[in-house]
Amino acid sequence: MSIAHGVRTLGVLGAGQMGLGIAFVSALRAKVPVLLHDRSEDQVKKGLALMDKLLAKDVAKGRITSDLAKDARDRVTVVNELKGLRDVDMVVEAVSESLPLKESIFASFAAELRPDAILASNTSSISITKIAAAAVPAGTSAASDAGKAGAGRVVGLHFFNPVPVMKLVELISALQTTPETLDRARAFAIACGKEVTTSKDVPGFVSNALLMPFINEAIMCLEKGTATRDDIDTTLKLGMNHPMGPLQLADFIGLDTCLAIQQTLYEGTRDSKYRPSVLLERMVDAQWYGRKNGKGFYEYT
Ligand code: CAA
Repeated sequence: MSIAHGVRTLGVLGAGQMGLGIAFVSALRAKVPVLLHDRSEDQVKKGLALMDKLLAKDVAKGRITSDLAKDARDRVTVVNELKGLRDVDMVVEAVSESLPLKESIFASFAAELRPDAILASNTSSISITKIAAAAVPAGTSAASDAGKAGAGRVVGLHFFNPVPVMKLVELISALQTTPETLDRARAFAIACGKEVTTSKDVPGFVSNALLMPFINEAIMCLEKGTATRDDIDTTLKLGMNHPMGPLQLADFIGLDTCLAIQQTLYEGTRDSKYRPSVLLERMVDAQWYGRKNGKGFYEYT
């Protein structure tokens, strides 16, 4: 029997490329009203402009009618404060990869949101178990019924960029996640048109435990002078049919995000195979973040 996701209203925290993509597929495919919050007004403006562009393209290509596009756009409402999310049935957090930031957000969710709301994180690598521990209501023991209920509604719901295009969502269960939370989150991802795989809560989950060493090895090849940037990317694109070479993909994900994920992998496993390359660290020191700010392994205008 299929489980209903029960999401009548979704909250999305973060209007960057991931948060906006999640709002887009939720409003268009799952057809649920979305409350979108980001502390940066500029980010919200950029995000909504991208959504308008994507909807207009889908209409122009005959994939959806203009009425459907309008309905999807009308389902997205911007809220100026986190408190504005208080009545949602589920929230997806999509902010940058920082554990202290996510801990403080999940503590606020525990304080502000309904006790039965599902609290999902789109983290690419941070422990869902650690994030769930932050959702134990203040002044409550993690082992008490209220503590277990607070953490039990936290789950990892890992989307891939660009969210409207990529077909996968990786579902991650914290030690504390209840089976009902997991089933409802899975049902929601399916309603968004995604295929779902599951991973244990290990650093990087399945996706980034495999992808990041691959990207890092490509950066080390460049660092050692094994081959040029273009030859590294072309080898993987034409030799292995990858849509993007690893250096191009690193720029696309964001070099700061790649480094943050690699640091989580390295610190979480203490295995030297995950040690970030010095070149990647230096590029992030130089604030060369890839496609998002115009300079990475490639230049973007
Ligand atoms: N948002 C929405 N749609 C986008 C988009 C974006 N940012 N970028 C491209 N698209 C759409 C295009 O509009 C186009 O749609 P139509 O078919 O409707 O025209 C479609 O994607 C194909 O785009 P293009 O023809 O411009 O270019 P392409 O064929 O080279 O495809 C790509 C672009 C889909 C990004 C492709 O290069 C690709 O699949 N690259 C690999 C992406 C990838 O691996 N993503 C996962 C990164 S890892 C991650 O996200 C998670 C993590 O934890 C780090």
